[in-house]
Amino acid sequence: MPAETKIAQEILNAEILNTKEVSVHFGGLRAVEKVDMSVRRGTIHGIIGPNGAGKTTLFNALTGFQKLTAGKIFFRGADITGLPPEKIAARGMSRTFQNIKLFSALSVLENVRTGFHSKLKTGLFDALFHTFAYKRDESFATEKGLEILEWVGLRDQAETRAANLAYGTRRKLEIARALALDPDILLLDEPAAGMNPVETKELMKLIQVINETGRTIVVIEHDMKLIMNVCDYITVLNQGVKICEGPPSHIRKDPRVIEAYLGRSHSA
Ligand SMILES: Nc1ncnc2c1ncn2[C@@H]1O[C@H](COP(=O)(O)OP(=O)(O)O)[C@@H](O)[C@H]1O
Ligand SMILES: [Mg+2]
Repeated sequence: MPAETKIAQEILNAEILNTKEVSVHFGGLRAVEKVDMSVRRGTIHGIIGPNGAGKTTLFNALTGFQKLTAGKIFFRGADITGLPPEKIAARGMSRTFQNIKLFSALSVLENVRTGFHSKLKTGLFDALFHTFAYKRDESFATEKGLEILEWVGLRDQAETRAANLAYGTRRKLEIARALALDPDILLLDEPAAGMNPVETKELMKLIQVINETGRTIVVIEHDMKLIMNVCDYITVLNQGVKICEGPPSHIRKDPRVIEAYLGRSHSA
C-alpha cells in the first residue's frame, strides 16, 4: 500500500464518527448550522454549550432521530446520513435521552432486556410459541442483562420496578439498557442532570469504566466538573454553531467559551 494511502487509512481508523457541515433548521431557526465534528475512536468526547445551543438536536441527527437539512454523517467510515435510528443502532451506536425513556411498569432487568431487541434473531412466531430459539434468546438476554447490571452497580435492584427507582438510578438504568446493544459508541445526553454530587461522582467513574472497555463515548453535559475531568476532547456549540474545540485545558481558557456562558443573559 502506498505510504499516503496507508496514512489516509490510519486517519480513517482513528476517527469513528464524523460530521460534515451538518445543519438542522426548524423553519427559520438554525438549530444546528454547518457543524464539522470528528470523534476519535476510544476517546471520551464532550459537547457543551448554553441551553438551546443545538446539542440535543445534533445528537438526534447523529442517531437518526432527526432529519438533516444539509450535510453528511459518517460512522466508521460509512455514510449513515438519512438512515433510520434502528439501522444506526444496529451498526453499533446507542444513546440515552435527555428526558429519560424507560418502561416504568417493568423491572430493572426487563428494561435492560428490551435493549437486546435488535440483537436477538427470534421474532413474534418464536415468542408466541416459545420455540427453542426463543428460550435460548431469552436466557441469553437474562444472563447478559444481569451481567450489565452487575457492571453498572444495579444488580441488587434487578427485580425493582423502574418507577420505584431514585432519579439518579433511573439515569444509570438508561445507560445499562444502551449497553445491551454492545455499542462501539455510546452517546449520553446530560447523564448527570438531576443527580446529587455522590451520584455524579459514581457516574463519572462509570463513564470511565465503559470507556476502558474500548467504547467511544460522546457526552453532552452541563456539569463542568464532569466534562473537564472525564473528557479527552470537547466541542463547544453556541446558537447552533461550533465556536471552538480542543482538549479541556484549551477549552477552559478560551475567551469564546467564557463569553458564550457569561454572555448567555443577553444572547438568549
Ligand atoms: N423539534 C423542534 N422543533 C422546533 N424547534 C426545535 C425542535 N427541537 C429543538 N428546537 C429548537 O432548537 C434549538 C436547539 O435546541 P436543543 O438542540 O434542544 O438545544 P440544547 O440541547 O443545546 O439545549 C432551540 O432553540 C430549540 O427550541
Ligand atoms: Mg439538550
